[in-house]
Amino acid sequence: MKKRVLITAGAAGIGRALAESFFSDGDEVWVTDVDDAALKSVPSAIRATRADASKEEEMARLFGEIEKTWGGVDVLCANAGISGPTALLEDMPLQGWRDCIAVNLDGAFLAARYAAPMMKAQKKGVIIFTSSTAGLYGFPNRAPYAAAKWGVIGLMKTVAMELGSYGIRANAICPGSVEGPRIERVLEREAALKGTTRDAIYEGYTSGTSMRTFVEARDVAAMALFLASDGARYVSGQVIAVDGHTENPDPKV
Ligand SMILES: NC(=O)c1ccc[n+]([C@@H]2O[C@H](COP(=O)([O-])OP(=O)(O)OC[C@H]3O[C@@H](n4cnc5c(N)ncnc54)[C@H](O)[C@@H]3O)[C@@H](O)[C@H]2O)c1
Repeated sequence: MKKRVLITAGAAGIGRALAESFFSDGDEVWVTDVDDAALKSVPSAIRATRADASKEEEMARLFGEIEKTWGGVDVLCANAGISGPTALLEDMPLQGWRDCIAVNLDGAFLAARYAAPMMKAQKKGVIIFTSSTAGLYGFPNRAPYAAAKWGVIGLMKTVAMELGSYGIRANAICPGSVEGPRIERVLEREAALKGTTRDAIYEGYTSGTSMRTFVEARDVAAMALFLASDGARYVSGQVIAVDGHTENPDPKV
């Protein structure tokens, strides 16, 4: 059956892959983003709204529009996240910490907070949070990101418990490093910090996984489609890594 799917940060990257996969599966899709050019590039059959996931007034307005247009939402992909600063703890700027927590954690909270009453009223719903393998291990030089992504898992577990009796499921996907421009920026920053090359950092990251690999956005989307499907009707409160199996989260390079 056709689902109404909302994806935060859905105009590019993993969110865009989520949007295109749900859309190809026959669902109605609505994406939000803060990048106007990326929003413009979204095919017209997918609704696209500018909304900053970390700003309550923008999220409240978005959910008001969704209520008017769709009358509810079946699947929420709380996907917005930024990588935050790369620095040792003692060099970490407080503002960088706050910005990273704001998008990754406040953003996940706000989306779930506004979806909850709609899903409770309809007595069904699926919430899929995008955490990260950074939410499963410590992450040297990326304290705000790791803290936010662990926070997302605590939020997901609580959402699953509060809303489970209303027929609402919540799960978190933890992607490993995803091929694309964002991870390239992360590799470049870490290479600069460690005084080495992007390729050495890449090699270090992939060597930390059993499958010696990065993953692709479509692998994350395939997991989200499964989690939103009836096949997963009793899968809730789970943390599912899509990462080629992280063995060593901090290979020294
Ligand atoms: N790329 C990876 O390797 C990777 C790995 C694990 C987890 N993740 C997580 O996956 C999610 C998506 O990551 P991505 O790689 O697609 O990111 P990305 O950097 O490619 O950005 C995707 C989109 O997010 C939008 N965005 C940024 N801040 C926003 C905000 N405040 N509100 C709404 N939209 C905003 C951007 O404009 C962009 O269009 C994030 O939560 C990220 O932490 C990514």
